[in-house]
Amino acid sequence: MNRLTTSWGEFELTRFPEDPRDPLRAWDSSDEYLLRCLDGIEDAPPVDLSGTVVVVDDRWGALTVALAGRPPGQTARIRPVQISDSYLGRRATESNLARNGIDPASARLLTARDTPPGRIDVLLIRVPKSLALLEDQLHRLAPAVHAGTVVIGTGMVREIHTSTLALFERLIGPTRTSLAAKKARLIFCTPDPALPRQASPWPLRYRLPADTGALAGVAVTNHAGIFCADRLDIGTRFFLSKLPERHGPERVVDLGCGNGIVGTAAALANPEAEVTFIDESYSAVASAEATYRDNVVEAGAAGGHAGARFLVGDGMADLPDGSVDLVLSNPPFHSHRATSDATARRMFGGARRALRPGGELWVVGNRHLGYHIRLRRLFGNCETVAGDPKFVVLRAVKRG
Ligand SMILES: C[S@@+](CC[C@H](N)C(=O)[O-])C[C@H]1O[C@@H](n2cnc3c(N)ncnc32)[C@H](O)[C@@H]1O
Repeated sequence: MNRLTTSWGEFELTRFPEDPRDPLRAWDSSDEYLLRCLDGIEDAPPVDLSGTVVVVDDRWGALTVALAGRPPGQTARIRPVQISDSYLGRRATESNLARNGIDPASARLLTARDTPPGRIDVLLIRVPKSLALLEDQLHRLAPAVHAGTVVIGTGMVREIHTSTLALFERLIGPTRTSLAAKKARLIFCTPDPALPRQASPWPLRYRLPADTGALAGVAVTNHAGIFCADRLDIGTRFFLSKLPERHGPERVVDLGCGNGIVGTAAALANPEAEVTFIDESYSAVASAEATYRDNVVEAGAAGGHAGARFLVGDGMADLPDGSVDLVLSNPPFHSHRATSDATARRMFGGARRALRPGGELWVVGNRHLGYHIRLRRLFGNCETVAGDPKFVVLRAVKRG
């Protein structure tokens, strides 16, 4: 049974999308440690939860749900504010609130791109995988932190590095860490209002190098935490050099768009293509929108442009059956820190459903991932368009 136990009750939690075959829990011992610490641990007193409580980067909603479900004690019921960059994490939180009979209005869910609350009294941070995302978030939250704000970070020991603590110290104030418990650790940070305010280096913008052919000089915007934010990924570079040459009106999807360079390249190559950019990261979709706008709209691309849509979502889930001509994707190959094609498989299935008969899915991937086996099983065909020792570009056609 997937039940998180706290001192005030048990909560049933799952990841999103729910997959009964997925053995992984929706929380870990770092979530448990933080929740335990709210009642006071070691030499840290119980935390006063009466003000604005903000939860950052809660993976599948465990912290938010447990806080929203905490019965009122001496203080009123807590209405945590969750800040997350993940659509899947947000959907998991919503369904976990419902699963535990907690009113959805008991928590306020914000994305990493939304304006954070103006004053924060308790700041709980599940240390994210991306140090860049943490850096940007601390920059955005620091102005709302005051001398009395309780700031506690939590993470698995392997996720907390000297650089993680240095970020807290540079942007919020001095830190000390707890003892490790079940391979998790807490970071206690004391706000220092005298710290000078610094500007966030995010988003990063760079121009594609001279050896990217027709795309040389294209400006790419990267918000913090997105895939390969400081340079062109080598798989993406290979894909860009092999994209299909197409003309005329067509509906193209850049699936798992990241900074949007693939869909932007498709729009620049075919002004009659209407491109839909999809990612589960709010920051990725914001980056894609900026990349498209700077190079296609504001640069006044030759021949005009057919327009674009920007969707935060889970793969192709929000696109109707048979509504797409071409899907381009460099799918994620990591899930839960392990190499996994689980998300890619879901994306391929969704692409097949959303393509019209005769429509095509083009995929780039590491050769060793064996995507061709999956695609052949799903589409009944799969052609290798190009390959080098490391990557392959594959094409699968939806048969009528
Ligand atoms: C390997 S990156 C590729 C990014 C970009 N297309 C590029 O080539 O630079 C995969 C992208 O898929 C996104 N992603 C992961 N899971 C997703 C999902 N369920 N639905 C949509 N996008 C997802 C990630 O956020 C990431 O931006």
